[in-house]
Amino acid sequence: MKIIITGGAGFIGSHVVRLFVTKYPEYQIINLDALTYAGNLENLRDIENAPNYRFVKGDIADQQFVDELFAREEPDAVIHLAAESHVDRSITDPLAFVKTNVLGTVHLLNAAKNLWKPLGFEGKTFYHVSTDEVYGSLEMGPDMFTEETAYDPRSPYSASKASSDHFVRAWYHTYGLPIKLSNCSNNYGPNHFPEKLIPLAIHRIRTRQPVPVYGKGENVRDWLFVKDHATAIDAVFHKGKVGDTYNIGGVNEWQNLALIHLLCDVVDEKTGQMPGTSRQLITFVKDRAGHDLRYAIDSSKIMNELGWKPSVTFEQGLAQTVDWYLANAEWLERVTTGAYQDYYLQQYSN
Ligand code: NAD
Ligand code: TYD
Repeated sequence: MKIIITGGAGFIGSHVVRLFVTKYPEYQIINLDALTYAGNLENLRDIENAPNYRFVKGDIADQQFVDELFAREEPDAVIHLAAESHVDRSITDPLAFVKTNVLGTVHLLNAAKNLWKPLGFEGKTFYHVSTDEVYGSLEMGPDMFTEETAYDPRSPYSASKASSDHFVRAWYHTYGLPIKLSNCSNNYGPNHFPEKLIPLAIHRIRTRQPVPVYGKGENVRDWLFVKDHATAIDAVFHKGKVGDTYNIGGVNEWQNLALIHLLCDVVDEKTGQMPGTSRQLITFVKDRAGHDLRYAIDSSKIMNELGWKPSVTFEQGLAQTVDWYLANAEWLERVTTGAYQDYYLQQYSN
């Protein structure tokens, strides 16, 4: 089987590529990635010479490129992760999200349909990886997003992902494209670009700089270790029903401030600092526009139907994550120069 994995140089994509390349030596894996600021081939150094792995640089927003790639490679499956993925960037540049997340997804859907339709779609899979943010924002309390929750996206990022989800389902109903979909909660772990909360906070604590917390730090997210998301994607790809959607989460809700306190304490412990030292770096900054209050996801369908469950507790996953960033200071330094510093100044200046 030949699989195109899009966005394989990014955070989650690199873990999915590694899992598939090492677990399925009989598969050919093509990593298709534009190498935006978020894509980094260093994430895949350990497997880049594997005989069943290849990297192709290209932009999914370029329809001709996508069509030619599919005609040339004739993939049997697509696992689609390429996206603009940061809510804050979607607020300043929404069109980039429309181009990659909406148009790019439609280009892939069309290319797959055109290639596979004459073959009757037999044995083919188009798997779209999405987010729980398409469901909108929950109040505090016991409610959770299920696969039946109505879409209610509220940021340009989540609106673009919701739109792409709708297009994926439309290609299933209209053209018979064999699709699968999953919607996952917030991931954390090694190789996470330090614009998202957890890697940004670790980077700032490590370099003894203020750690920005939006608003009062009361917003709630459900956090899943990235390697557990990769195993969930493996389960959905191989065992999920065609046309179906699976919610994936960590059953692990944290208010942002409590999470940052825990993170500060873990870093203090691992770097031999007095307990409480890093908490002094916490700085409350202007809230995000339209900041979704709470996400919580009910993963019982994937757990019951596909037998998937997270392999680590949050404490274990966070410890592994902090260890990785402390051991890979050079990775962090290389991705936080130049353009990153301009981004930080612009994003956090008021
Ligand atoms: P990321 O930003 O770390 O990586 C995205 C990758 O896509 C990068 O390698 C980038 O170079 C590539 N890319 C961007 N635009 C492209 C284009 N036009 N053509 C080709 N490649 C392009 O993102 P991530 O956090 O790894 O997220 C991966 C997917 O998982 C996304 O679809 C995202 O919506 C979804 N998701 C993420 C999370 C999370 O917590 N990070 C949670 C649920 C779902
Ligand atoms: P983020 O990692 O951007 O993920 P998402 O917005 O997709 O859930 O943010 C996680 C939470 O942390 C969210 O409530 C916003 C908040 N946050 C901060 O408080 N400070 C920051 O510097 C960032 C990037 C996020």
